[in-house]
Amino acid sequence: MEKIIRRTHMCGELRKEQEGKRAALNGWVQKSRNLGGLIFCDLRDKTGIVQIVFDQNVDKGAFQLAESLRSEFVVGVEGTVRKRQSVNPELATGEIEVFGDRLVIYSQAQTPPIYIKDDDDAGENLRLKYRYLDLRKLRMQKNLAFRHRITKCTRAFFDQEGFTEVETPMLVKPTPEGARDYVIPSRVNQGQFYALPQSPQMYKQLLMLSGMDRYYQIAKCFRDEDLRADRQPEFTQIDIEMSFVEAEDVMELQERFLQKLMKEVMDIEIQIPFPRLTYREAMDRFGSDKPDTRFGFELKDLSDIVKDCGFKVFSQAVAEGKTVRGINFNGCNEHFSRKEIDKLPELIKTFGAKGLAWVKLGEQITSSFAKFMTQEEMDRIYERMQAKAGDLILIVADKPSVVFDSLGFLRRELAGRLGLLKKDEYRFLWVMDFPLLEYSEEDERYYAMHHPFTSPKLSQVSLLDSDPGSVNAEAYDIILNGVELGGGSIRIHDQGLQKKMFEVLGLSEEDCQNKFGFFLEAFQYGAPPHGGLAYGLDRLAMLLSGNDSIREVIAFPKNQAAVCMMSGAPGQIDQTQLDELGILIAREGKEDAGKEQGHE
Ligand code: AMO
Ligand code: AMP
Repeated sequence: MEKIIRRTHMCGELRKEQEGKRAALNGWVQKSRNLGGLIFCDLRDKTGIVQIVFDQNVDKGAFQLAESLRSEFVVGVEGTVRKRQSVNPELATGEIEVFGDRLVIYSQAQTPPIYIKDDDDAGENLRLKYRYLDLRKLRMQKNLAFRHRITKCTRAFFDQEGFTEVETPMLVKPTPEGARDYVIPSRVNQGQFYALPQSPQMYKQLLMLSGMDRYYQIAKCFRDEDLRADRQPEFTQIDIEMSFVEAEDVMELQERFLQKLMKEVMDIEIQIPFPRLTYREAMDRFGSDKPDTRFGFELKDLSDIVKDCGFKVFSQAVAEGKTVRGINFNGCNEHFSRKEIDKLPELIKTFGAKGLAWVKLGEQITSSFAKFMTQEEMDRIYERMQAKAGDLILIVADKPSVVFDSLGFLRRELAGRLGLLKKDEYRFLWVMDFPLLEYSEEDERYYAMHHPFTSPKLSQVSLLDSDPGSVNAEAYDIILNGVELGGGSIRIHDQGLQKKMFEVLGLSEEDCQNKFGFFLEAFQYGAPPHGGLAYGLDRLAMLLSGNDSIREVIAFPKNQAAVCMMSGAPGQIDQTQLDELGILIAREGKEDAGKEQGHE
C-alpha cells in the first residue's frame, strides 16, 4: 500500500491566489478524460471540485497510473496550482487547475448506480438505497453541513441563556394519548413493552420539578404516523422547557433565538417580535392554523350575503348551519383558464368539498353561479371581496372544516402556480389561543388538542364545567412560510386543575393512575410553574436550506412506507430471538409494499 498523501488543501478551496503553490489533495474522481498526451481529471471532496491535469511529458509514472482512473476512484494527488487556459465559470475553482505530478490510487470503484451530480434525477427510492453515494453529492454534503451549523448555533444560544442539555430515555412507558407509539418488547420482562418516546414531554416537565430550571435537548422522537414530505417516523426536536415563566417569556426567548439563528446561519436580519394571530383569525383569514403569509388571497365569509339567494348550493348550506366563503385571487383572471379552473374541484375533493363556485372578472364577467343570483347579491359579493376587473373569485360552501381546508389548500396551490412561494422570503409568525379541547363525534368525548398537561387560559378555567369546548389553551405554535415549525405551551402545575382536566377528558382516576401515575405523583412534591416548546429540527433545516422535503436534510431517512431502502429495515428476527422475547407471530406479515423485494 502506498502512503496516504498528506492533504494541504481541500479541493473546493483552491483559488488563483494559490497560483504557483504546491497542493496535495484527496478525494473522489468526478470524471476523467484522456486527450492523448493529457489527462484531465475532476477531483471532488466535500468542499467542491477542482481540475487536475496529468501530462505524460512531466511524470510518466503518474500519467500512466492516471490512465486507469474512472469515476469514483478514490485518489490522492500532488501538483502545482496554475492558471487555467479557459476559465470554467461553473466551478468556484474554475480559474485554476492542479498540474499533477504524483498520484496514489487508494481504491477503485465500479460504475455507481446513480450519478454523483447535484442535478441527478434518479428516483428517490434508488437514491435512498444507495444513500452513501447520494450523500457524496455536494448538494447533500451542504445540507448536512448546514444542519450541523443550526445545531451548533442552537447549543451555543441556549448554553448562553443558562439552559442545560439533558438526555432523556429512549425506552419509555407507552403513552396512550397522542400518535401511535413504536414499541420495543422487553426480554427481561416478557409480555411487556417499552415505547420509543414521541417527545421528551413528561421527562422535561419532571426536570423542571427537579429544579433544573432551564432544559434543552436535541432529541430524537418517534411517531408511528402516516408519512408526508415533512414527516418522518423518527425525527429530531429542539426541545425546550423553562421554569417560572409565562407564555410571553417563552415566546420572547424563541424570537431572540430565531433572530440569532437567521443571522448566524443565513446572514439574514429578521424583525422581532413576530406577528401574532389567534387560531380563530388564522382560520378565518387563511383557512389554516399554519398560514403562509408570503402572499395575500385572504378568505372572506359570504354566508350572510347568500343566505337567501337563489343558488341552492349556497342558501341551503347556510340553512344547514354550514358556511360559504371565498377568496379573491386578485389580478389572477388571466392566469387561470376555464380549463384550469374546471380541474380544481377534483383537487379539493380529498377535503370533502363537493364543488367549487367561481367568478372570472375578465372583459366580460363569467361565472358558474351568477345566473342564479340577483345583481344586488353579486354586487355585495364583489364589494365584500373587494373585486375589480381582472380578478378571479373562488367560493366553497360546506362545513367550516371542509371550507377552510379546501380554500386553505387552494390559496397555497394557486400561489405556487403563480410563483409566489418565494424560498428566500421568511415569514415567521405565532398562532395562539388554540382551543384547549377537540370534540370527537365518533368517541363522544373531548381530546386534548395539544396534550393533557397543557394549561387552559387561567381566566377561562371556570368554563371547564359549563362550556369546555369554548376554553382556549395557553399554547402557541411558531409558523414559518406555512409550515408548523414548532409548538408549545404553559403546563398545568396545579394538581387540582390537572384533575379537573382529566375529568373533562373523561379519564377516570384509575385510567390516570395507569397512564401517568408516576408523573402525577411527582406534582405532589412541589412543582414550579413551567412551560416550553419544541421545534422540528428537520423542518427548520429543510425550510432554511430551501428544500421541499425533510428527507433532504436527514442523512439516512425512511421512505414514504417507513422503510429504510438501504438496510431494508424493518426486518424479521429469527425464532430464537422471538422465543427469548416470548413473542408469537400470529399472522405472516404482508409483502412489504415499501420494499422492492418482499421477504423470501
Ligand atoms: P409537537 O407534537 O407539536 O409538540 O411537535 C413539535 C414539532 O416537531 C415537529 N414534528 C415532526 N417533524 C418531523 N416528522 C414528524 N413526524 C413530526 N412530528 C412533529 C413539528 C412540530 O411542530 N412535546 C411537545 C412540545 C411542547 O409542548 O413543548 C411536542 O412534541 O415541527
Ligand atoms: P351545478 O349547478 O351543480 O352545476 O353547480 C354550479 C356550480 O356550483 C359549479 O361550479 C359547482 O362546482 C359549484 N358547486 C357545487 N357544489 C358546491 C359547493 N359545495 N361549494 C361551492 N361550489 C359548489
